[in-house]
Amino acid sequence: MGNPVVLAEQGLPDVLLGAIRSGCRLGLPSVLARLRAERKVPSARECSRHYGSVVDKDLLDGPASAFGLATYSGETLLDVWYPDPTLGSTPIDIPGLDAGAVHDELRGVTVRGIRTEISDLSLPPVDGADAYLRLHLLSHRLVTPRSINMDGIFGKLELVAWTNLGPIPVERVSEVRLRTRARGNQLTIFGLDRFPRMVDYVAPGDVRIADADRVRLGAHLAPGTVVMHEGFVNFNSGTLGTSMVEGRISAGVIVGAGSDIGGGASIMGTLSGGGKEMISVGSECLIGANAGIGVSLGDHCVVEAGLYVTAGSKVLLPDGEVVKASALSGAHDLLFRRNSVTGGIEAVKRTGSWGGLNAALH
Ligand SMILES: CC(C)(COP(=O)(O)OP(=O)(O)OC[C@H]1O[C@@H](n2cnc3c(N)ncnc32)[C@H](O)[C@@H]1OP(=O)(O)O)[C@@H](O)C(=O)NCCC(=O)NCCS
Repeated sequence: MGNPVVLAEQGLPDVLLGAIRSGCRLGLPSVLARLRAERKVPSARECSRHYGSVVDKDLLDGPASAFGLATYSGETLLDVWYPDPTLGSTPIDIPGLDAGAVHDELRGVTVRGIRTEISDLSLPPVDGADAYLRLHLLSHRLVTPRSINMDGIFGKLELVAWTNLGPIPVERVSEVRLRTRARGNQLTIFGLDRFPRMVDYVAPGDVRIADADRVRLGAHLAPGTVVMHEGFVNFNSGTLGTSMVEGRISAGVIVGAGSDIGGGASIMGTLSGGGKEMISVGSECLIGANAGIGVSLGDHCVVEAGLYVTAGSKVLLPDGEVVKASALSGAHDLLFRRNSVTGGIEAVKRTGSWGGLNAALH
């Protein structure tokens, strides 16, 4: 019997071939899921053997561990900082960590040293300390987005007031503000959220983040990534190589190397609003300013500025066929544009280059 991938490719149109190849490498678009269910295209495992898997792999099932400093209000865990997590069951020693274990009268919290071990990252988080370790693994780039189990993480994280003094329970903000003012100081609140800002816990030296509020802990920013003020990167999402992020990367979204998410652009997520497919953007793609996608892109794709391509958008192909955009999910070398004469969305094969990233910016 021949190679299942090659066999499955015989007789398929170009556009589906692109989808299969990038689906193999970047996650499974819905059309492929259906074709795979009907056994018309090879399984993810067969694909990854053939093309080499980047991120579409089984969840990591190994351990992780770390020493950290945990902030408690009573017995409620507000946060944990793990300076040096590892993908092993023996945590890395952090000299001097104990010095951070203090009782803070001003905030009314106690910071304690803790040791956390996760035996199997393919199982869901069991508590807050476990959840914080997973977020740190992502932001330390020890694991890629979607490679570990993050199911139910919201339920494991407290709603916290993130302040210039550190985390405090939301219901005690007034009390702490009063005590702070009594000392002649100001309490500044960065947000009321379950996730803190990444840079307050993990600050990689090889990326640029113009506005710290825009990147949540759990974001994965590859070296050379630039997140400008309008950019946003959620937890369990991010970039796999040098890239320019001036738009929003939702939870679960992965952006390939050399890609540019233009100003105000939006990549649909799955946390709310009904979306189910986790979106991937291939390498060297350009999503134009104020554009958006609800389908995955393969490599070298461009979405015209201002065009939102949702999964159900009807798209005109060069041969006159009209397909839903989801059928093109993951295909390479496509330019999506809204024909400015007819108003319809078109996908045309790209030939030229959009110029690539501006090397001076990274
Ligand atoms: C879609 C886009 C990539 C096309 O750019 P391009 O490949 O350089 O193409 P051009 O503008 O040179 O146009 C090529 C041809 O297609 C036509 N064309 C371009 N956009 C079209 C549209 N929406 N509808 C109909 N025709 C269109 C042009 O008129 C031109 O026709 P011609 O060959 O008869 O002269 C570009 O308009 C775009 O949106 N870029 C995004 C830039 C961006 O937002 N960057 C991020 C900044 S933060």
